[in-house]
Amino acid sequence: MFEELLHAWDGEEVALRFDAASNAWMFVCVHSTVLGPGMGGVRLQRYATPHDALADGLRLAGAMTLKQAAADLPFGGGKAVLAVPDIPRGADRAALFSRYADLVNAMGGTYVTAADMNTGQADMDLVGERTAHVLGRSPERGGSGDPAPSTARGVFHGIVATARRRFGSSDLAGKRALVQGVGAVGFPLAEHLHEAGASVILADPNAERVSALAERLGGTLVAPVDVVGTECEIFAPCATGGILSAETIPKLRCSVVAGAANNQLAAEGADELVRDAGILYAPDFVINAGGVIHLAGYETLGWDEGKMASRLESIGDTLDEVFDAADRDGVTTDAAARRMARSRLDAAG
Ligand code: NAI
Repeated sequence: MFEELLHAWDGEEVALRFDAASNAWMFVCVHSTVLGPGMGGVRLQRYATPHDALADGLRLAGAMTLKQAAADLPFGGGKAVLAVPDIPRGADRAALFSRYADLVNAMGGTYVTAADMNTGQADMDLVGERTAHVLGRSPERGGSGDPAPSTARGVFHGIVATARRRFGSSDLAGKRALVQGVGAVGFPLAEHLHEAGASVILADPNAERVSALAERLGGTLVAPVDVVGTECEIFAPCATGGILSAETIPKLRCSVVAGAANNQLAAEGADELVRDAGILYAPDFVINAGGVIHLAGYETLGWDEGKMASRLESIGDTLDEVFDAADRDGVTTDAAARRMARSRLDAAG
């Protein structure tokens, strides 16, 4: 049942393991090692079928190759999926991550793991007890901790660059910025936008968290179901993927889409629909690269805080290059960003 998926995939290697003790499937997908080891997070999730889990891992690993290349990091693209019947806790969780660590270790460094959806520093600390091929452990265990604040900082610089291109000024004062999802990334992003003078509009099903933040920042609240259709200048999706679709794009009332969420374009052609709607889209895999920049920079490249700050700021420069290339070549911003990433891969490989 996996054969068709694997044959249709353009990546390098997949390790799969059925973990009878937890009834979980583990898929470690290495899409490309052209620029360096395949690096990406491990996602812990329930899926309808193992087939869906593998499909997700393959797709996400490919996206990581583009992200690492666009960020000009010495890493390739990889992603792991642990497809579990239920999200495990306590000793069961620790045992699952120990066995996962052994699988990563057995791959000999073609894949370097990190945290992703439903996984975090504590899991990476456990993984780090059994393999060196891990990033994002806690600072107490020699890691660089949670990369989300760096992701938020990078997205902020990306928003400034996108706004500059769209409005002719980097000044966010008076601009309405709608942040969809105030989680690990959206929360600090809303703070940065507020500090830069934007009027923040916030949406999150976690009513307590979002209300407290809106009150502190003097922002407005919007119900999660009303995000699409809410008038604003800047829309920053920071929740789940697939927000830009044939159904939602005609309803958008913004000039710029620039946010952290992965896989914002729901289907092929959505990038053209966004462009034709007169909206400037900052490709997700370019603007949200702050997390991988944080992990690679602090843990393998020996950067200090100053170097990190300038590399996160340069996400804005990368977007400028993408926007220039899109104008020059008459393609969408997403297509231009893919071309840029692929040309780095071609040059290296
Ligand atoms: P998170 O899980 O901490 O936060 C997501 C937030 O979105 C939660 O507060 C959740 O309640 C909210 N949410 C869920 N559905 C919503 C809806 N329909 N409307 C409004 N809010 C909704 O996740 P995190 O880490 O902040 O990541 C956000 C996005 O950015 C994800 O798509 C993630 O893949 C992507 N990303 C995160 C990176 C990181 O460093 N954490 C790096 C690159 C991408």
